Amino acid sequence: MRIVIASSEAVPYAKTGGLADVAAALPQAISKMGHEVWLAMPYYRKMEEQIDRAKYPIHETGIEFDIQMGEKTMTGELLWSELPNSNVTVLLIDQPDYFNRPQLYQENGHDYADNCERFAFFSRAVIEVCKKLVLRPHIVHANDWQTGLIPALLQTEYAYHPQFLRTRSMFTIHNLAYQGQFWHWDMELTGLDWKYFNWRQMEAYGQLNLMKTGIVFSDAITTVSPSYAKEIQTPNFGCGLEEVLATHHDKMSGILNGVDTRIWSPETDTHLVENYDARTVGEGKAVCKKSLQERLGLPQKAATPLIGMISRLASQKGLDIISQILEEVIQRDVQFLFLGTGESRYEDHLRYLANQYPDQIATYIGFDEGLAHQIEAGSDMFLMPSAYEPCGLNQMYSMLYGTPPIVHVTGGLADSVVDTTKETLSSGKATGFSFRHYNAESLQATIHRSLDLFDEKEDWNKLVQNCMKGDWSWTRSAKEYINIYQRLCSSPREAIP
Ligand code: ADP
Ligand code: GLC
Repeated sequence: MRIVIASSEAVPYAKTGGLADVAAALPQAISKMGHEVWLAMPYYRKMEEQIDRAKYPIHETGIEFDIQMGEKTMTGELLWSELPNSNVTVLLIDQPDYFNRPQLYQENGHDYADNCERFAFFSRAVIEVCKKLVLRPHIVHANDWQTGLIPALLQTEYAYHPQFLRTRSMFTIHNLAYQGQFWHWDMELTGLDWKYFNWRQMEAYGQLNLMKTGIVFSDAITTVSPSYAKEIQTPNFGCGLEEVLATHHDKMSGILNGVDTRIWSPETDTHLVENYDARTVGEGKAVCKKSLQERLGLPQKAATPLIGMISRLASQKGLDIISQILEEVIQRDVQFLFLGTGESRYEDHLRYLANQYPDQIATYIGFDEGLAHQIEAGSDMFLMPSAYEPCGLNQMYSMLYGTPPIVHVTGGLADSVVDTTKETLSSGKATGFSFRHYNAESLQATIHRSLDLFDEKEDWNKLVQNCMKGDWSWTRSAKEYINIYQRLCSSPREAIP
């Protein structure tokens, strides 16, 4: 099969969260299984500054294309690159007015005002570029609202285009809370007829909704974990789209993300001062912990449990309940370490706590890939009490690094972490600590439970070993995606009038 995957971010080119990890790892896993995969993403100029051009060369193609955006005609240019050590070609859509900005989606907490225009352009550009390259994809796989327009274009404007007659679309929801909602006049920017601006299709609560557009027009929908697929059909997690999702539930399934172990493995991780495996985890972790404490200015105490967290600082990630209990928990001998960026109220609070309790709390506000790896390795537990979590990658990384996660039972956290009890520990299944009711007391009790077990060295070591045994390889998930692609290709498509 020939598959075009469209994403607004992918490592190593640009990343704000887990989508970037997935958008790079999944194409490679699918390509390894013998399929032809193209990855399309915007060319963010700031990539030029960050990327080692020698390692990841970016080439010009000389291909230009024009796209009508409302009353303006915007010209884009195609660049290309290759995902390292793979057969995946990366199609980079260059449009400096839209993508030559300091950040991907927002600055200082404010979304770019023309985000609809930027990503409507990108979505159209993906199809334009297929036309220019005379690609006839069997599948176009869009991800999140930024590419939600693509399934709609394929079902409407391009339904009878000779190049796309056999093309089916897949839409993956990575996070339903970010929907790409814009005022209704932005409908003009999509280039689609106003007749689609109705409550069954592109409109939600009076606005243009690009997430809903992707959901409605795609031939298949996936979420990034099976539990999240169920949760989002309920009012608590549906973010206002639960009824739309319930209407389309026949074409929806959940596939848990995997881990790219070439990037996330304690055995080969180049960011660590010491590599280790399940046999050497004791010594390896001790060295990593010491170096981490030193880097973040915490007292280098080997016996004091260190709880790490790496996160976008958004309410999704459980920061409200963490703030409520931190000062009580640090009455015990424990250290906390936070790496993240996001909402200023959380950034400020974590900075304040680090100032107040410098011997027990360290905060690093910023985005630092290397430090993220070091925290996975050097911490004793990983904190991830998300209110909701479509999948979550950090809990899987932390288990592979022998760092049991502390999580709320939701979405991908429910599907990947097994709570530690006497039974699960003795059956070898336990991999972390979890709580069902999202509130500060439950989190507090769960952290204390983890700290108690940390003192029981024999049990703790068993838990660490269980964690490291997990298989989160992408092969399993990639096979599930391919099954759906194949099913789509063998079923006829009806164009939506
Ligand atoms: P989400 O996509 O909701 O943010 P995930 O757990 O799926 O959550 O993925 C987050 C990814 O982003 C992980 O690879 C994590 O290490 C990374 N990450 C998040 N914040 C930072 C940060 N401040 N510095 C470095 N990496 C970060
Ligand atoms: C989103 C979700 C996260 C998921 C990631 C990759 O950012 O918040 O749970 O792991 O996408 O699918």
